[in-house]
Amino acid sequence: MKIVTIIGARPQIIKAAGLSRAIGENYNDKIEEIIVHTGQHYDQNMSEVFFEELGIPRPNINLSVGSGKHGEQTAKMITGIEQILLDEKPDAIVLYGDTNSTLAGAIAASKIHVPIVHIEAGLRSYNKSMPEEINRIMCDHASTLLFSPTKAGIENLEKEGFDLSSVSPFSADNPGAFHCGDIMYDNSLYFSELSDERSNVLQENGLKKGGYVLSTIHRNDNTDQPERLTAIFEAILEIIEKYKIEFVLPLHPRTAKQMEINLSQELRRRIESEIRLKLIDPVSFLDMIALEKNSKIIVTDSGGVQKEAFFFEKPCVILRPETEWVELVECGAAQIVGWDKGLILSAFDHYMSTADIQFPALFGDGKAGKFMCEKMLESLK
Ligand code: UD1
Ligand code: UDP
Repeated sequence: MKIVTIIGARPQIIKAAGLSRAIGENYNDKIEEIIVHTGQHYDQNMSEVFFEELGIPRPNINLSVGSGKHGEQTAKMITGIEQILLDEKPDAIVLYGDTNSTLAGAIAASKIHVPIVHIEAGLRSYNKSMPEEINRIMCDHASTLLFSPTKAGIENLEKEGFDLSSVSPFSADNPGAFHCGDIMYDNSLYFSELSDERSNVLQENGLKKGGYVLSTIHRNDNTDQPERLTAIFEAILEIIEKYKIEFVLPLHPRTAKQMEINLSQELRRRIESEIRLKLIDPVSFLDMIALEKNSKIIVTDSGGVQKEAFFFEKPCVILRPETEWVELVECGAAQIVGWDKGLILSAFDHYMSTADIQFPALFGDGKAGKFMCEKMLESLK
């Protein structure tokens, strides 16, 4: 079986490592994978670093699309992906998550009848102002095989009319949807030990185990609106002052740019002069795992980081008005606070004073990649 895998944004490169590893370990003689990088992310520390570190096969093709407005960026990707599919004639295209690279792959493939495999299907924020919500809904509804990491995800698909009892042969008109665990959980388990051995990020940044907060911010809803970005940084500064705790914040390039535009000079001066707030460049995945595992609390608007907080049993303050990972909130391991300064502070206070937090097994058995390979082989060839 021949598959074309589309990656583009940082989390997709990381997720793809899980499937490529499963193929390499068990299905090398049965599945040929062609990796196409759209070039949505292109900085060394947003892309190349992951190939070096995670042992992912280098992309066979890079479309070098780069940044741009949604339509412009997506259109360039569609054009490039369509041509690759016409040339390669794969049995399926594999798409991850909900970025513009995902949507472009779905549009290109569905029009020329290449079956779509969507990994991380069924997740919903029920907020259509998010570009990701549109991308994931459209991709799900054009897919032939849908792999949902969570129970909530598979239930969302059922609500939208997917028949969970449908049987092979699957097609876009008779899709197969499966609840199979999370490929990111496979990765966190696999790379955790390697991170212990190889990462020096704590020493490099003078951080003590359990003595700091890890934070990431990159959602356009937070970065592009001055009042929201301001409220988030004011809350962080207040927490640092109150608890005399360090914050480490690997800065997404979007956020670095928007901080210059959207924060007042006075706030930027306060941020720069606060030595307990460490703004650092984006880190590698092994460094990120080390930062997550050794943190006290995680404060983030990232989908992936919310889940990794849970995998490593850290409470999470979610800087969004809703989450696709509802199970984390339902079991008390995470709280939704949006960009409301008061809510950020009170969620933080809660987790500083609560030790008894449950982290039940919600994301499978670490073998989601293997399950997906088996299903693809069974259903697509
Ligand atoms: C994208 C995804 C988002 C995902 C995130 C993961 C969409 C609509 N959004 O958001 O779902 O959570 O990736 O990180 O697909 N930039 C650089 N260097 C890079 C990449 C980006 O400087 O290597 C800057 C550019 O100024 C660019 C901005 O970041 O305009 C935003 O990049 P883009 O890929 O459009 O969206 P993300 O915010 O990264
Ligand atoms: N990540 C990383 N280095 C960083 C920040 C994040 O390796 O400096 C990893 C993180 O561990 C997770 C993924 O990137 O696996 C999440 O990506 P991101 O937050 O960019 O996007 P989202 O998950 O919100 O789509």
